[in-house]
Amino acid sequence: MNYHNSIIDTIGNTPLVKLNKVTEGIKGTVLVKVEYFNPGNSIKDRIALKMIEDAEKEGKLKKGGTIIEGTSGNTGMGLALVAVAKGYKCIFTMADKQSKEKMDILRAVGAEVVVCPTNVEPEDPRSYYSVARRLNKEIVNSIYPNQYDNPSNSVAHYETTGPEIWKDTEGKITHYACGVGTGGTMCGTAKFLKEKKASIQTIGIDTYGSVFKKYKETGIFDKNEVYPYLTEGIGEDIMPANVDMNMIDHFIKVTDKDAAIMARRLSREEGLFVGWSCGSAVFGALEYAKQHLKEGDVMVIILPDHGTRYLGKVYNDVWMRDHGFLEERSFATARDIIKRKNGKSDLITISKTMTLAETAKALNKAGISQMPVSDGNEIVGSISDSKVLSLLIEEPESKTRQVSEIMDKPFIFVGLDNTVDALSSLIDKHNKALLVRDETNQVHIITQHDLLMALTA
Ligand SMILES: Cc1ncc(COP(=O)(O)O)c(C=O)c1O
Repeated sequence: MNYHNSIIDTIGNTPLVKLNKVTEGIKGTVLVKVEYFNPGNSIKDRIALKMIEDAEKEGKLKKGGTIIEGTSGNTGMGLALVAVAKGYKCIFTMADKQSKEKMDILRAVGAEVVVCPTNVEPEDPRSYYSVARRLNKEIVNSIYPNQYDNPSNSVAHYETTGPEIWKDTEGKITHYACGVGTGGTMCGTAKFLKEKKASIQTIGIDTYGSVFKKYKETGIFDKNEVYPYLTEGIGEDIMPANVDMNMIDHFIKVTDKDAAIMARRLSREEGLFVGWSCGSAVFGALEYAKQHLKEGDVMVIILPDHGTRYLGKVYNDVWMRDHGFLEERSFATARDIIKRKNGKSDLITISKTMTLAETAKALNKAGISQMPVSDGNEIVGSISDSKVLSLLIEEPESKTRQVSEIMDKPFIFVGLDNTVDALSSLIDKHNKALLVRDETNQVHIITQHDLLMALTA
């Protein structure tokens, strides 16, 4: 029988996939290693298993123990799956900038989550680093794997990610690129690959607001480089022990915006529904590839996690627009729609005293499906063809009844500057059209048809 003893036995051996669309104009072959195929949907499953197994081997973690870690969410998920499989408890400290999805997912697999302020110094007692360390001191038979400085992190990639890439590229890899957070994925993997072929170039992807690139290029740990940024998982305001700058040949910095837009492109053009830092990795690696990759070269880029963890941010248009990551779409306004109808009011109303039969005729004659009901100059209600139709079918004798007896409430009046996106959110099955007064106080009707015209003009 072909089965795995437990879910943690399915960690690793993730596929390499060729990029075909976003690599337009790039020479050489660009492959991505899709780490969301791991059971915890991220590359961090690899280090979670290794850190726990090593802690068990070193006798640091005993039966029923508690695992405590500071995490951006992914390592937490990996540790939580290993803990479930091996019978440990989990407590994770997280910065409040991390997405709600990530926190909910950890709670879903039985972990306790402690949320800490993002914008405090690493050594501040409130930081998610310090709180994890303090809890580890307070809770008996607990371990704090500390992915930042724990050598098992890099070793996990030296023993798994590196060999998989070498095997799947049959040693043809020439360039290796990935985001740097703790540094394990970059430096553990690069150590293995460079031992196999020293000429392999490694490109570390950093973000603005992080210390890595300047440190690599100048040896200076410059606090001025540090400022809050949004991309999750990469960049740092500390220097983790797992970052070995000898393993990183080049650093490329990528903005939150470029990363977010590239992540969306990978999803829409390559069908790779990936996380934010995956966008950073591909955007930065392709920037490098544009200048350096030659025919015959093979570049491998790590895609650490899945898009589901960023539905409220990168994959949410309102959030993206609010952060200036998506151009403001200029929507036409009610005024534009009226102008497109040459300012002529095409408002047709029916008097409330008219019968249903007369109303049906008026709707048919005008070729419209709804209209306001008036009482003199005042609009007192609305009527639609579907309402008249269903009533005439149910009670044919009602054709002599006055429309005022069955009319719906009047259509909403909107302002001339309301944009199509706002207007379309007002039209629904209860409110089939909108009314607007122009500067000369003439009333105009705006229907779904008008909105479609405005959107497709
Ligand atoms: C989404 C994401 N991308 C990239 C990384 C960076 O990987 P590493 O910590 O191995 O440098 C992390 C690490 O937490 C991550 O969560």
